[in-house]
Amino acid sequence: MKRKNGFLGKDILSVDQFSKEDLTFLFRKTTLMKKIVKAGKKSKMLQGKIMTVLFYEPSSRTFGSFISAMQRLGGGIIPLQGMTYSSVAKGETLEDTIRTFECYSDIIVIRHPEVGSAKKAALVSTVPIINAGDGVGEHPTQALLDLFTILSKFKKIDGLKVAFVGDLLNGRTVHSLSKLLAKMGKVEFFFVAPKILRMPQEIKDQLKNRVSIIEAEKLDEVIKKVNVLYITRVQKERFSDLSIYENIKNFYIITKKLMEKARKDLILMHPLPRVGEISTEVDNDSRAVYLTEQMRNGLYVRMALLAATLGKIK
Ligand code: CP
Repeated sequence: MKRKNGFLGKDILSVDQFSKEDLTFLFRKTTLMKKIVKAGKKSKMLQGKIMTVLFYEPSSRTFGSFISAMQRLGGGIIPLQGMTYSSVAKGETLEDTIRTFECYSDIIVIRHPEVGSAKKAALVSTVPIINAGDGVGEHPTQALLDLFTILSKFKKIDGLKVAFVGDLLNGRTVHSLSKLLAKMGKVEFFFVAPKILRMPQEIKDQLKNRVSIIEAEKLDEVIKKVNVLYITRVQKERFSDLSIYENIKNFYIITKKLMEKARKDLILMHPLPRVGEISTEVDNDSRAVYLTEQMRNGLYVRMALLAATLGKIK
């Protein structure tokens, strides 16, 4: 049966909006994009389309991979990062900035420090808005690439044991991915965090009827059990008192020794950037995918998402 493109013309604001059918459609196209890139083919799929990339917060991967995705499909870009040289520096509102760039482009990708900012942008925009991270809220496209990475390895979600480790309070990637995984199947979650950085109650409330959740502070026992270990950095920029950050920033460090306790079929994931939570000695472990598959999948998923949203794949 041919599946419908549920992304056509849509804003991409939260993982809550994706159905299983949407994900099956998108990941089939993601595999196609992977083939295009691996074959070194030139694609004209998005020729004539322009994407504004409007980033009010720092980024390397999301910013870079969206730009690469558009250019690999033959489209053009308006890259804005930091806002020092745009009219935002003169005090322009988010709404006016969006009204400006909808006149120049066919799609706008936005990262902003405020929760709900992408939704705010979508309310005034006539072109699709993609949320590339709204403060401590969500990062739906990261969750898509993370889910694609997990499915590529395990082929299914049912029965997987997944540990989220680190700053679960402020880490938008873990908020989005936990919700998406819970939607996809019967997973078992281990939320491993220091007391002050635990997963927000509202996210746990959304998950608890669908999946089992075990909360812990220590990683030693959990690492032996899980198929996926997803670690995040402690988000310094979300702390008003930096002394608290300094005390807690090295709470978890994945070392070669710790990896000896982990399962052979584990995958070790990190959305990056890392600031010490994974020792570089672990990078060559075949179970570490954060610098390889996970990062590359960001490009393929975003190519598929842009093509689907702009109606260039059926
Ligand atoms: N994973 C992620 O969002 O990375 P960047 O902050 O570099 O975009």
